Amino acid sequence: MQYNWDSALETGHELIDNQHKQLFAKLNSLVDAYDSNKGKAELEKTLEFLAAYTIKHFADEEELQVKYNYPDYMRHRTIHSDFKNTVKDMVEQLKQNGYNDKLMEETIVVVADWLLNHIKGDDFRMAAYVKAHSNM
Ligand SMILES: [Fe+2]
Repeated sequence: MQYNWDSALETGHELIDNQHKQLFAKLNSLVDAYDSNKGKAELEKTLEFLAAYTIKHFADEEELQVKYNYPDYMRHRTIHSDFKNTVKDMVEQLKQNGYNDKLMEETIVVVADWLLNHIKGDDFRMAAYVKAHSNM
């Protein structure tokens, strides 16, 4: 199953939206690798790409929040850092227990659900603030 990007996920901030699209593309690469039984090396690689891009994206979002004195920055940063820990734990579990179906499916669902909820809630609020306080 692929996770389709649609306009309901658009925050209206170009950089954030482009990065969110990239996150979906990387999530879909992981789903593809899993669906087509690509094997451990490929699963590990696509998962690492996704994890690394997530970290980069969070850093860019946080930089924007600092730049525009976003009042909810500390909370947003904590949410990001909690999710980074969740991903780290899942990657660790997969490495330890093997890339079995149950763990892989759980990982994909957790990441996809988190992204969808976070974008529609926290990121929408943050992007609206940043847009209102910058000359975009
Ligand atoms: Fe965010």
